[in-house]
Amino acid sequence: MGNGRTTARVRKTGGAERRSYRLLVLADQTALAKEAAERCARIAEEAIARAGRFTIALSGGSTPKLLYSLLATEPYSTSLPWQQTHVFWGDERAVPPGDHDSNFGMAKATLLDRVAIPGYRVHRMQAERDDLDLVAREYEGEIARSFGVPPGAEPPAFDLILLGLGPDGHTASLFPHTEAVRERARWVVRNHVPTLKTDRVTLTTPILNQASTVIFLVAGAEKAPALQAVLEGPADPDRLPAQLIQPTSGRLIWLADRAAAGMLTARTE
Ligand code: 6PG
Repeated sequence: MGNGRTTARVRKTGGAERRSYRLLVLADQTALAKEAAERCARIAEEAIARAGRFTIALSGGSTPKLLYSLLATEPYSTSLPWQQTHVFWGDERAVPPGDHDSNFGMAKATLLDRVAIPGYRVHRMQAERDDLDLVAREYEGEIARSFGVPPGAEPPAFDLILLGLGPDGHTASLFPHTEAVRERARWVVRNHVPTLKTDRVTLTTPILNQASTVIFLVAGAEKAPALQAVLEGPADPDRLPAQLIQPTSGRLIWLADRAAAGMLTARTE
């Protein structure tokens, strides 16, 4: 894969497997964050024009920090429709909101405290509570109310869902060989992650794949083997849950920096 911006659109259809995505390789993490910020702004503008509101589910982990910090600066801090934006999360760790490991806490410090978004439009997963099954059901209810759909109906479509990729091929808190990977009805579940000896709360494939746009942010050489396996390897979603993400009718965009894309062999257009 060459330097700078490269675009590859790969369409593989065979048996049940369908992979259709756009891959953009950016020079480094700064260029990655800039590209993602521009896309967030465009998708937000389109959503406001279409529906008068913008719904986004944020990713956790470290990779989106640069993006969130950028969105908290001009022009994005004033040009994005924060007053009409609803913010949700793709997953959360079982820690209090002020904890170093909190996905909410990270987004609050890098973005939400620095833009004019009304508090009631920030929908946090209360994953510090004891009963995470109840927390997951309540969050599903909160999503249903916010989108005006009855719980248990077809999941609603977020305008944008941001996701990351773990070195083991996990995304959100859909970790390899865990129960949540096989969930096909619920929108939000508690997921026990034996490799981390902890539970997480996570959105599931049914609602992730309902999104209008899903953007993966992937940076760093340590992600290269997983990215290559997910995009170009054989279908094995129980081992590589990120392969489950294929929006039903929405767009799938992979933004990767050159280091993360180092092992890809995709054709360029
Ligand atoms: C989380 C995330 C998770 C993350 C990946 C990548 O809560 O940890 O939602 O899915 O996106 O683990 O994390 P990094 O960006 O830190 O590499």
